[in-house]
Amino acid sequence: MGLNIQTFLFLLLVPFAAPAKVTCQTSACHQEMGKGPFVHGPMKSQGCTVCHPTTGQNKGPGQHPGLVKMGGKETNKTCYLCHEEFEHQFRNSKSVHKAIPEKSCTSCHNPHQSQNKFLLSASGDFALCLKCHENKADFKQSKHHMIKDMKRGCLSCHEPHASKNQKLFKKDRIVGLCLDCHDKEVTATDQRKIGSILSWNGLPANLQHEPVAKGECFKCHDIHGSTQTGLLQKKYDLNAHPQKGASSSSELCFQCHKTDLQDKPRVLNETQFRNGETNLHHLHLMGTSKNRNCSACHTPHGSEQGALIKGNFQYLGWSIPLIYKKNSQGGSCATACHKKMEYSREKAVINETDP
Ligand code: HEC
Ligand code: HEC
Ligand code: HEC
Ligand code: HEC
Ligand code: HEC
Ligand code: HEC
Ligand code: HEC
Ligand code: HEC
Ligand code: HEC
Repeated sequence: MGLNIQTFLFLLLVPFAAPAKVTCQTSACHQEMGKGPFVHGPMKSQGCTVCHPTTGQNKGPGQHPGLVKMGGKETNKTCYLCHEEFEHQFRNSKSVHKAIPEKSCTSCHNPHQSQNKFLLSASGDFALCLKCHENKADFKQSKHHMIKDMKRGCLSCHEPHASKNQKLFKKDRIVGLCLDCHDKEVTATDQRKIGSILSWNGLPANLQHEPVAKGECFKCHDIHGSTQTGLLQKKYDLNAHPQKGASSSSELCFQCHKTDLQDKPRVLNETQFRNGETNLHHLHLMGTSKNRNCSACHTPHGSEQGALIKGNFQYLGWSIPLIYKKNSQGGSCATACHKKMEYSREKAVINETDP
């Protein structure tokens, strides 16, 4: 091993030991540097050594400086030299993107130049983010992959660096995030109209479904994508008449509610929807040949009538009103399915007609 490192470097650099005036960028080695539609400010104004400090071994032009090793976590310190506001922001944030302390700024940005805006290393934030987040199941298996269609992709809801909110959210309440787009009707890829959420978001909290009032949209929706329609986490059949009974077509609801509310024909406390001891959930859901689904009566988010009862019932393309009145012992319902019927938990009401 007659070749020590200095000699080796010397031999390596000899071919470039051209006369004066050769800079790193004009040398044959780094000609591609600083060229491209987007060039980092200091490349133009301050040159290479502002970021690649020398160890004092630099013998002038044509000799490769003894560079300090770049890359890895240490890189961020170089960035903070000029972008010190980030360091300050991170100290005052509730969530900081782990990509920054665990990897580095250069896991997303090219420090020199780039084909992409903001010196990003991939075009479009969607492609950029999925470089590290592609293995999240819900991105892959989505049927309704709404984020793909959003103009700003992931950045519609998340900040790339840090946020004063949890999970890098742009807004403090999840509902606020959603309202950015759902405060008006939006058209889905398949041309369906998706109504504004303002109608139910404006209701007082006691008329909203508890998880909705708490802003826990993600308890029912897989926001990033889902194999179910409506970005739902579990099955929820919107057909009034289920094929196999409400339990299997309404898995979504039974994540939190007990099937007790429908199982027994006669009940004491399992449900409020009873006439005397007759379980009206059982009666409607599984007690006749025409079993109903939850979605025949309930709306998932909130209702002016209370008890999450829909104002309208969709049947064969018709919109049929469902007039529900709640009182302290029970209530009444008038619909096209039957004339006005009353129920009371105290003492069974005898209605004119049976359902
Ligand atoms: C704004 C700071 C900054 C400036 C200015 C800068 N560099 Fe870099 N350079 C870096 C960082 C940071 C890395 C490590 C990249 C990484 O983490 O992948 C790097 C890496 C490199 C590498 C290793 C391979 C590569 O392309 O990533 C070379 C070669 C290089 N720089 C040359 C130069 C030259 C030549 C100049 C001047 C024309 C220059 N740099 C200017 C920050 C800078
Ligand atoms: C020597 C000072 C300096 C250092 C060190 C520095 N930057 Fe910059 N950076 C600037 C300046 C100046 C601008 C604004 C340039 C402009 O607007 O053209 C800038 C702009 C940027 C931009 C925005 C580009 C755009 O298109 O708006 C990004 C991203 C960026 N820097 C990332 C980094 C990263 C990552 C590092 C660390 C590897 C770093 N910078 C280190 C001076 C620096
Ligand atoms: C996970 C990827 C990612 C990492 C890591 C990252 N950035 Fe960014 N950065 C982005 C994206 C995406 C944008 C564009 C934001 C937009 O479109 O509004 C951006 C924009 C910027 C900008 C220009 C706009 C602004 O907010 O001022 C600067 C400067 C910047 N980043 C610097 C940094 C620095 C410094 C670091 C390390 C401390 C860093 N970035 C780490 C993704 C990242
Ligand atoms: C270089 C790899 C990398 C890239 C690129 C990247 N991330 Fe991350 N991200 C991570 C790591 C590591 C974590 C922490 C572990 C985890 O939660 O998966 C994380 C966590 C997150 C979190 C959870 C934050 C929390 O506090 O729970 C969000 C949201 C996120 N990333 C969004 C994005 C977005 C949006 C982009 C694109 C702009 C992106 N990521 C690009 C590595 C990356
Ligand atoms: C419509 C708003 C929205 C968009 C767009 C969006 N997210 Fe999210 N993201 C959320 C919500 C809400 C959560 C919290 C979900 C939860 O806690 O179950 C979240 C959570 C995350 C997490 C943390 C996961 C965890 O289990 O804590 C990561 C990582 C993440 N998002 C990455 C991304 C990436 C990458 C993209 C783009 C491909 C993206 N997000 C697009 C709303 C969004
Ligand atoms: C940047 C705009 C935007 C934001 C922010 C946004 N959405 Fe959406 N959302 C859409 C679009 C566009 C669609 C239609 C998607 C399609 O093409 O099928 C949609 C569809 C939906 C659907 C219905 C899917 C279906 O097929 O019926 C649900 C549920 C939904 N969003 C929930 C949310 C929730 C919850 C949030 C907040 C965490 C949110 N959205 C934030 C734009 C947005
Ligand atoms: C208890 C479960 C549940 C919760 C919690 C929930 N949703 Fe939904 N959401 C559903 C179901 C079920 C549907 C589809 C049925 C329908 O359209 O009536 C739906 C449909 C939607 C739709 C599209 C359908 C439309 O036209 O109205 C949007 C947008 C939506 N939800 C947003 C939200 C937002 C925002 C939140 C949080 C504030 C939220 N959801 C919380 C169950 C839920
Ligand atoms: C994430 C858990 C969760 C899911 C999923 C869920 N609920 Fe609820 N629901 C609650 C909580 C909590 C309450 C309030 C306490 C109670 O009455 O049990 C509630 C209350 C209700 C009420 C009574 C509302 C009132 O004002 O009296 C109805 C009706 C209801 N849920 C129907 C449904 C239907 C239909 C589904 C399926 C689309 C469903 N829930 C899915 C948590 C959930
Ligand atoms: C025929 C209409 C109808 C159908 C179908 C229906 N419900 Fe109800 N449900 C009601 C009414 C009315 C109430 C309010 C009872 C009261 O408070 O007086 C109610 C109350 C509830 C409550 C509050 C607690 C309780 O049991 O009183 C929950 C939870 C609930 N329903 C869930 C469901 C689920 C889940 C399904 C489907 C499996 C479903 N409902 C199907 C009409 C219906």
